[in-house]
Amino acid sequence: MTRHFLRDDDLTPSEQREVLELALAFKRDRYHSQPFAGPQAVAVLFDKHSTRTRVSFSVGIAELGGFPLVLDAGTSQMGRGESIADTARVLERQVSAIVWRTHGQERIEEMAEASGVPVVNALTDQFHPCQILADLAAVADGRGGVDALKGLTLAYLGDGANNMAHSYLLGCATAGMHVRIGTPEGYRPDAAVVAKAAEIAAATGGSVAVVRTHDEAATGADVIATDTWISMGDEAEAEARATAFLPFQVSSATLALTAPGAQVLHCLPAYRGKEITGEVLDGPQSIVWDEAEFRLHAQKALLTWLVDQ
Ligand code: CP
Ligand code: NVA
Repeated sequence: MTRHFLRDDDLTPSEQREVLELALAFKRDRYHSQPFAGPQAVAVLFDKHSTRTRVSFSVGIAELGGFPLVLDAGTSQMGRGESIADTARVLERQVSAIVWRTHGQERIEEMAEASGVPVVNALTDQFHPCQILADLAAVADGRGGVDALKGLTLAYLGDGANNMAHSYLLGCATAGMHVRIGTPEGYRPDAAVVAKAAEIAAATGGSVAVVRTHDEAATGADVIATDTWISMGDEAEAEARATAFLPFQVSSATLALTAPGAQVLHCLPAYRGKEITGEVLDGPQSIVWDEAEFRLHAQKALLTWLVDQ
């Protein structure tokens, strides 16, 4: 059966571990393996803006020996109403995998349903699972390897209801980590995602908590993560969000509460002075540029793993 990666819990803990180990191998050797030699094509589709995802999938697919076929919604027939299923049926005859950044999760589920080749979620409104693989690989790399992840506490501060918060919940629970989401009332993560993450954590030795204050989230954390307060699609609420999330800004006051040597993550793009201060983003505990580089290694690992199933 074709395997897809639509949300973080589509990989079991041992499968996630295999992918993370492979990501570290690709960091050591960019040409570790070339499953798309031929070249075979991989479709990379965008319904939303992107810098990192577009670059890392394009470069990564090329380094895997393949051809990245990048399409924007505005220039494809999907943008004029061709169905998702019909698009999948056309693509699967010609490409080895489909990578898609889109809006609702149901759209990528529909693509996967109709596709005989792996479909990869390159961000939806609900999840950003490729980013979490990169984040976990970057944290592990900074701490000597994948074994270091189990038992770490990651605190995410800011919009608890966005794609990054949901993916941290599922992805970190899968890795056996303790995940804390610090977010104001009105922005709590989806209850079903929290419940699923708690179920996973119960089996991996991790834990899940949604807390109401910055300090409860940050105190003693090994990893601090944040994301923009205004995700793509939330622009109309910019003012209300800036007020609600300000108490959850990541600053030097946040780092004063964490475990010594805590690592700082941000999926980028970052807005200095909003969700994170420039001092922290550009400071010695920030690993955001390694994290951005790990998009390349982690996605190459994921694609290699998926087409091998
Ligand atoms: N972090 C991330 O997905 O960046 P882009 O939106 O630039 O792809
Ligand atoms: N939460 C952000 C992530 C951007 C990479 C968004 O969806 O816009």
